[in-house]
Amino acid sequence: MPSPKKIDVKALNPILSNESPATNTDAIGIFDSGVGGLSIAQCIEQQLPNEHLLYVADTLNAPYGEKSTIFIQQRVNSIAQWFIERKVKAIVVACNTATVSAIDQLRKNISIPVIGVEPAIKPAVTISKSKKVAILVTKATADNQRFLALVAQYSHLSDVTVQPCPGLVELIEQDKKSSVECKLLLRTYLQPLLDKGVDTIVLGCTHYPLVKTLISEICGDSVAIMETAQPVTQQLQRQLASHLLINPNTALATTQFYSSKSGADQEALFSHILQRPVILNRYP
Ligand code: DGL
Repeated sequence: MPSPKKIDVKALNPILSNESPATNTDAIGIFDSGVGGLSIAQCIEQQLPNEHLLYVADTLNAPYGEKSTIFIQQRVNSIAQWFIERKVKAIVVACNTATVSAIDQLRKNISIPVIGVEPAIKPAVTISKSKKVAILVTKATADNQRFLALVAQYSHLSDVTVQPCPGLVELIEQDKKSSVECKLLLRTYLQPLLDKGVDTIVLGCTHYPLVKTLISEICGDSVAIMETAQPVTQQLQRQLASHLLINPNTALATTQFYSSKSGADQEALFSHILQRPVILNRYP
């Protein structure tokens, strides 16, 4: 794999537009750089139990938050291509970093619904009493113009601090989310926000709900923590309905899991997070 910095924009892989019309029994493709998107996949499984899901974790290339925009766009296009070859009816970009870096160009290239993750800034600035809100994000999201423009839309309503959290995704991917190391790292990022009087924290990376308990422990009950799995699931449902793509079969559907990094440890990580045995297939 070449260094992300050396990738030429002209080398960006185009998506083949060989889509045949989607049918309502087709699966939905969901992806993330790793296990973060499982927080969204779980919500979709619970609320749309008749929908077949294909989940791709691009773990070999995680963390996306430390990569260039061009590199992330290339990965997103490759995964979307793979989904299209499997004839999915919609794609959920279950990753904030991939959403801000690549969703606009992805939507231009394919015609099926593409649902992204938007951090819950609007509800956060609405409920914050101290009018001090923080968003925890990856470095790539913190540097992204699309994301910064979204933050700017709400900065007249509340003081909004963007807090990058480098190292956190790596610890979660290593199944060290309950470790002292993880707690110390989180405290480093959270304590200055608490000292500042922040009373509402937005989780702007889909990996972070997996350490929500730890975040709550550090911040205490008086700090509200905002996630996005629910609004993403509702948006998916609306998109499927408007394209007449809701699966009419009432039988329970299946979720198939794929990862670019195979191995027993990866299978154990998925099983640990989902609290059920998971068979992990090799992507691509
Ligand atoms: N879970 C992803 C996000 O929401 C990606 C994290 C990463 O790979 O850095 O940002």
